[in-house]
Amino acid sequence: MARKDRLAKISILFLGIIVATTACRDDDEETTGSKRVVCESVPDAGTPYELEVPYFFPQPSLPADNPLTEEGIELGRHLFWDKTLSRNNTVSCGSCHSPETAFSDDAPKSIGLYGETTRRNSMPLMNMAWNTSFFWDGRAATLEEQILEPVTHPVEMDLTWAEAVERIESDSAYQEMFTQAFGTPCVDSLRMSFAMAQFIRTMISARSRFDLAYRYGQAQLTPSEQRGLELFLAEGGDPNIYPGGQNGGDCFHCHGGALVQFTDHLFRNNGLDSIIGEDRGREEVSGVIYDRGRFRTPTLRNIALTAPYMHDGRFATLHEVLEHYNSGGHESATVDPLMKFTGEGLGLSPLDIDDLVNFLESLSDYEFIENENFQDPNE
Ligand code: HEC
Ligand code: HEC
Repeated sequence: MARKDRLAKISILFLGIIVATTACRDDDEETTGSKRVVCESVPDAGTPYELEVPYFFPQPSLPADNPLTEEGIELGRHLFWDKTLSRNNTVSCGSCHSPETAFSDDAPKSIGLYGETTRRNSMPLMNMAWNTSFFWDGRAATLEEQILEPVTHPVEMDLTWAEAVERIESDSAYQEMFTQAFGTPCVDSLRMSFAMAQFIRTMISARSRFDLAYRYGQAQLTPSEQRGLELFLAEGGDPNIYPGGQNGGDCFHCHGGALVQFTDHLFRNNGLDSIIGEDRGREEVSGVIYDRGRFRTPTLRNIALTAPYMHDGRFATLHEVLEHYNSGGHESATVDPLMKFTGEGLGLSPLDIDDLVNFLESLSDYEFIENENFQDPNE
């Protein structure tokens, strides 16, 4: 390279750095442990990305202030898998949300960067663009807001945002990625959470074998899975539904009878305990006693991949979960009225339970968990 060219390159680089630093410093700098928002927003940065919405899903409501772009999604993927976002560089978001387990983990309660346990079972990440709240207790209203929590959480990743930003902005590859995604290399907590939210919104799961059979006519359910589906959709306690006088599973009220997201997104107490202990669920957010022991109904998509089960990971297998429902669950002041058989039980036979479990296993979407776009870009 000619010397003149090299000089020109160097001066452009310098100019870039000066512009970048002023873009960051000019703003009203707010540096706290929980948040650091300094970057100016650059309209129309990045290449617009169109979310591929499965034909049987409703259109999601995407936030106008964080449009999806190809570069934003790719940046989000790098941040999601980056262990430097934990103090001792051992844990990334992907450590507790890994593909084999449908972007959850296999511990009853997740293990953080120092080997301590968090309060709850990790949640699988899929179809987040259709969520109406985040976490088991719904304490975050948006994905952008949710993402601000794990990085600074003392058990999960234990960094302040100021430290996290420092680590990311000192990396030249990230400077390039931030520039492409957001128009300048400036890094702050808002841009980081925006990019990760974009990435997570692209994680759509809608092609399980069940979907292929039921929505696309490209597969067939086995007779046992088909019978499990019918039990899933049947009212409990109605001996007229089956000629043999058999009961239904009564699952569809809460886990979505439309068979789209397999959740009603509402907070319910499914009768796990008669006395609700230290984890009060939704009550911790609302302050309303009526919400004691209520948790957001989880999706059943990919459920065979996300053991153990419930907010505290108390059940190791789907059979154990079904035994719980078949027993009717425990009575308490806040048990959901749709848990109609507390004290009585559903009366499902061992064969019914096997069929229900087989149906639930047909909800695994291997195309989704193996999708290259979601894997660790460093591997
Ligand atoms: C130490 C393990 C751990 C790490 C690290 C972690 N998470 Fe989580 N994640 C959890 C647990 C546990 C929950 C449920 C917590 C609760 O409900 O109180 C959760 C919940 C979530 C949810 C809510 C899903 C829903 O359906 O509402 C999202 C989204 C999420 N995490 C994304 C992330 C992102 C992004 C990162 C990285 C910035 C991250 N997580 C890092 C364990 C972890
Ligand atoms: C009253 C509403 C309701 C009914 C009826 C119901 N569920 Fe649930 N289900 C929930 C809630 C709420 C949770 C999460 C509870 C918690 O962790 O505290 C849950 C959790 C689960 C889980 C564990 C999910 C996970 O990610 O850990 C499975 C599996 C499940 N239900 C399957 C079923 C099946 C099968 C039926 C029918 C036999 C059924 N449910 C009936 C509300 C309900």
